[in-house]
Amino acid sequence: MSTVRTLRTDVIVVGAGIAGMSAALHASGRRVVMLTKAGVGAGGASPLAQGGVAVAMGPTDSPEAHAADTVAAGTGLCHDEVVRAVTNEGPARIAELVEWGALFDRRPDGALDLGREGAHSLDRVAHATGDATGVELVRTLASAIMRSSRVEIIEHHIVVDLLFERGRVVGVVAIGRDGRPLLVTAATVILATGGIGQIYSHTTNPVEATGDGLALAAGVGARSAELEFVQFHPTALDGPDRPMALLTEALRGEGAVLVDDRGERFMHMEHAMADLAPRDVVARAIAVRRRLGRRVFLDASGLGSLSRRFPTVVDLCARQGLDPSQDLLPVSPAAHYHMGGVVTDLEGRTSVPGLRACGETAFTGMHGANRLASNSLLEALVVGARCGEDLARMSLQIPVAVSEVQSHSDFPWADSPWLDDGGNQQAAYDLRVIMEAGAGVERTQGSLTIAHEQLAELRRVVAPQPGELAHMMRVAALILRAAEARTESRGAHFRADVPWSSPCWLQDLVFEGDRLIPPHVVQPAAAVG
Ligand code: SIN
Repeated sequence: MSTVRTLRTDVIVVGAGIAGMSAALHASGRRVVMLTKAGVGAGGASPLAQGGVAVAMGPTDSPEAHAADTVAAGTGLCHDEVVRAVTNEGPARIAELVEWGALFDRRPDGALDLGREGAHSLDRVAHATGDATGVELVRTLASAIMRSSRVEIIEHHIVVDLLFERGRVVGVVAIGRDGRPLLVTAATVILATGGIGQIYSHTTNPVEATGDGLALAAGVGARSAELEFVQFHPTALDGPDRPMALLTEALRGEGAVLVDDRGERFMHMEHAMADLAPRDVVARAIAVRRRLGRRVFLDASGLGSLSRRFPTVVDLCARQGLDPSQDLLPVSPAAHYHMGGVVTDLEGRTSVPGLRACGETAFTGMHGANRLASNSLLEALVVGARCGEDLARMSLQIPVAVSEVQSHSDFPWADSPWLDDGGNQQAAYDLRVIMEAGAGVERTQGSLTIAHEQLAELRRVVAPQPGELAHMMRVAALILRAAEARTESRGAHFRADVPWSSPCWLQDLVFEGDRLIPPHVVQPAAAVG
């Protein structure tokens, strides 16, 4: 029998990406335990971010213009007040990162060298070391975290359950790579575990992106919304790498173009912004051609040498024997970002006391049906910081002692909670195939129904114990249910059987735990977490 280790702290942060680290750093005066499946500064989606941080800092830009582009891309579902707050606070968060030592790329006159990405009307994307922006931001935040005596980092642990007492989240149950359980109680738990991309066969998301935060929150009845909106990045490198290598949209911002296997450009036939159209439009244009048996390529050969501006892309291509300055790069859409998530306000409060969320795990209403490129790092920085600052300000409940908490978990479990360490790999593979076929770039009622049935059968046969596979299955079921319920097409949710948008669907689709609240009857819930 494994010994159960116990800890008590003020705040638990689950996840060590940009959102989680920002929250921890801004929770001044609070003792923080940060639990992460990988290591701090490694793993997760944040270090993989290439494009950068969208921020209105150009000479002719303004937060209003940035907000207008965000809302246009979001096709009717952005929450205006959230967009306004996040775009307004962007410049201050960049200034703070610079103060902490982040080295953004600059022009000879010292101004930020801002790049262009899809659906932005101006050059607005701050980047670092060309296309290694995520690495630089993670380096900056991780070194501040490691210097902080308030933050205890516990690496290589997965949270498999939330401790819930008298209607309040009071801590977490985690399992280490060595199989040992750890119980931590706290006044507040912040879920910042990133996205859900690992439920798809084609994804740019890292192996850690198994939807842990969303699944844990659903398990305690928290509200989540817009789960049907999964953003597929149009240009993942179509090769053997898993996760798939990202070919940043900034390449198209600098002039790279999409061509079909006859070498012909096609995006001008799809949208006025051609290759820089919103991401959902480009992903669909590519998916349709691939479905018809055509191949699609990114042609960056006109950009000259890419090694200074796009060193990550050059490196990722070289691993597959390609030179982007000469070769056409085969591309495929790949699950990249979940617009939906755990419903929160701008301070990360969820509908459940004691529980907060930020970053990709959360749904603030910033992104609507289609996230504008490079707005996610911005949202993670702004909401993460606001969440931490709020916790620093408010008086926190005294965390309960572990001995007072009823743990419903029996240790040790027969199966490992980690996907790469148990007998669950075949089931995970099957799940990904089901989701890719049933709820990919294009879905129909028929494809979703089949996926639902197949998933139910898989769950029945496998009955996974708490851990990554169970999280993936719960999240997949929620996404399928949401995609079935939204009987229209909007942004990243394209129903080939209902290819139009309907004004009566200008509303969020909300779950309470695993239960879909019938559309039109959703009452605003006070955010209490
Ligand atoms: C990219 O660099 O194309 C991705 C940026 C993002 O997802 O916002």
